[in-house]
Amino acid sequence: MRRRILLLHAHPMPHRSRVNRHLVTAAESIAGITIRHLYELYPDYMIDVDAEQKLLLDHDIIVLQHPFFWYSAPALVKEWLDLVLQYGWAYGEGGTALQGKSLLQSVTTGGAAEVYCSAGRNRHTVREFLLPFEQTARLCGMTYLDPFVVHGTGQLQTEADLAPHSQAYCTLLSNLASGIDLPPSP
Ligand SMILES: Cc1cc2nc3c(=O)[nH]c(=O)nc-3n(C[C@H](O)[C@H](O)[C@H](O)COP(=O)(O)O)c2cc1C
Repeated sequence: MRRRILLLHAHPMPHRSRVNRHLVTAAESIAGITIRHLYELYPDYMIDVDAEQKLLLDHDIIVLQHPFFWYSAPALVKEWLDLVLQYGWAYGEGGTALQGKSLLQSVTTGGAAEVYCSAGRNRHTVREFLLPFEQTARLCGMTYLDPFVVHGTGQLQTEADLAPHSQAYCTLLSNLASGIDLPPSP
C-alpha cells in the first residue's frame, strides 16, 4: 500500500542554503509527496496548529528536514513541536493522533562524518544528538526511522558533489512511499 509522505523543510536562510535546497528540490519528484517550507509559511513563528495537525493526520510518514544548528534543529522546528504536538492529541490521555506513523529526520551537518563519533571532536554521533526528537516520536507512538544525514556540507560545492546525496534521498523516500521498510532502527 502506498504511504503518504509529509516533508517539513525548515531552513531559516533558504536563499543561502545549498544542500537542503538541493535535497528538497529533488524530493519534489516523489509522487504524492507533500512539501511544506516552514520558514516561508511562518516567518513570524505564528504556527497554524489546526492546519499542521490536519496535515499530520492525512499522512503516514513525517519527514523533518533541516540543517544541524548547534547540535540540534533551527528554532522554528522546536516551536513547531511545542505547539503542534499537544497533550491529549499527540500524547497523554486520549493523545493517539500520531500512533503508527513514522518520523524520519533528514539532517545536513557542516562537520564531517569522522567528527561525529566517540573519538571525534564532537564526541557523539548525530543520532545521539537527535535523541530528544527520537524520544518525542516514541512518546507519541511513532516509529523513529534511522536519520538521513549528509555530512561535510562545506565540501559539497558542485552538482556532481550533491547528486549522489539527492539520489540516495529520493531512493529512500520512494521506498518509504512504496511501503518498503527501512532496516530496523537500532
Ligand atoms: C547557527 C548555525 C549553527 C550550526 N551548528 C552546527 C553544528 O552544531 N554542527 C555542524 O556540524 N554544523 C553546524 N552548522 C553548519 C550547518 O549545519 C551547515 O551550514 C548546513 O547544514 C548547510 O546546509 P545548507 O547548504 O542547506 O545551508 C551550523 C550553522 C549555523 C549557521
